[in-house]
Amino acid sequence: MTQPRAHAVGHPAARTSAAQAATPYADALQRHADRAPLMFMVPGHAATPDGLSKDLADFVGERAVRMDIPVLVDGIDVGPESPYVEAERLAAEAWGAQRTWFLANGSSQGNRMAVIAAHALGLSDTILAQRSAHSSFTDGLVVSGATPEWILPQVDVRRGINHGLTPGQLDAALTRTRGPVYVVSPSYFGAVADIPGLAEVAHAHGVPLIVDAAWGAHFGFHPSLPDFPTTQGADIVVTSTHKMGGALGQAALLHLASGPFTEALEPVLERAYQLTQTTSASSLLLASIDVARRSLVLGGDALEDSVEQAQALRQRVRSIPGLEVASDSFAEYPDIVDTDPLRVSIDVLATGLTGYQVREALANEHAVYVEIATIGAVAAFLGPGKVLDLDRFESALRAVIEAGAGSPTADDAAQVLSLPSPGPLRTTPREAYFARAVTVPAEEAIGRVSAGALAAYPPGVPNVVPGEEITRESLDYLRAVAASPIGYVRGAADPALDTVRVLA
Ligand SMILES: Cc1ncc(COP(=O)(O)O)c(C=O)c1O
Repeated sequence: MTQPRAHAVGHPAARTSAAQAATPYADALQRHADRAPLMFMVPGHAATPDGLSKDLADFVGERAVRMDIPVLVDGIDVGPESPYVEAERLAAEAWGAQRTWFLANGSSQGNRMAVIAAHALGLSDTILAQRSAHSSFTDGLVVSGATPEWILPQVDVRRGINHGLTPGQLDAALTRTRGPVYVVSPSYFGAVADIPGLAEVAHAHGVPLIVDAAWGAHFGFHPSLPDFPTTQGADIVVTSTHKMGGALGQAALLHLASGPFTEALEPVLERAYQLTQTTSASSLLLASIDVARRSLVLGGDALEDSVEQAQALRQRVRSIPGLEVASDSFAEYPDIVDTDPLRVSIDVLATGLTGYQVREALANEHAVYVEIATIGAVAAFLGPGKVLDLDRFESALRAVIEAGAGSPTADDAAQVLSLPSPGPLRTTPREAYFARAVTVPAEEAIGRVSAGALAAYPPGVPNVVPGEEITRESLDYLRAVAASPIGYVRGAADPALDTVRVLA
């Protein structure tokens, strides 16, 4: 049995109403389909499986075609009392938010909205951010014109995993430069940061805290899972319901929490939403949030089963020679206060294989897919409420490791150089992004301003962002990673980084 943890706010049952058993928006789509509407309008498939749309119906199912309807239909999503608005309200209640927006373009849209809104508060031109921010955060900087002040997260260089920030790091950074704060929690590998501590620091400096919880849509829905950041003092929380929430691809949420910035943020977030949301958001994908929310709220036993299965998988991993559970050593990192139990992070360094090789062999030879690989680890995710075949996973893992024994050790390759310090910021990301750029030989790029972001994988922390000066140190680091058999540079003009795009 896993030990349920004590929650400040607890299981949604403690804060949600009986209305959580309903799916108002999904039901409204179903009612609409049941009326067999005659659709002289878009979508061109007219919500029927006939004629040219037969192939589509064969592909996605007739039911899906019948419920794929446009926006602004009376009785569905028009007006403040519509089933759509009620569905957003129920989502806000379930995730502990004051207000929630359904997003059709993933957490990428949520991050852009969050940066646009936080910058629009006018507290500062600067936004402080964890350097391992997702690229959509940088997009937010480009759109808003805000200036970033980066804070380097804790990094496990050996395994190629980056973690998060501590409240102390944030306090020191905010004392130097004040501005809204953006952090990522949980990390890709399930490391959870001290959100109450980070929120307290941010609020003490008079700025809001944005938490990119793209990977934590399931948090707060079971006592064995960490709390959701809206209930821990964060002001804006972005989460991908399509990742660990069980909704369809692209579906995501932006939550505005209750706190000192609620009133100021609500109107600017609404404007940022209008700027970024399509006017034809898919009814199916947004209704999938409604359905997934209900399943999460009511799915206690199924969530418990997944947590226990993940626990069992960790035990199996520990019993395989050469493997370790990477999260067993998370306690060594001061920024990690909790771990997502549904992420099983497997350290493969002692097997002689890299995480990339293990992931590829699992997929190609056994049709077993894991979410992430780094140089020294892979991470298997158990979707909330899913119970998967552990015997098949374990035998595939054992087979891959046995077949790969004797390869050059990942450990040698893992002795990658430590991360270079970022070069000085010479223009805002926005100015750099839209400026005229040229591609020059790498050596000539030193001392010039980068037009794009360059991030060496592992561990995927951007080493250069648009507007930063390219230094000898960062270039040497990036080229060394690009030349190693296990590394690559995201954003590079060519794979070896012989050339670099700089401002003209
Ligand atoms: C930390 C983080 N934030 C945001 C995103 C973007 O999420 P989405 O794919 O839902 O747009 C990702 C995507 O992987 C991510 O890892």
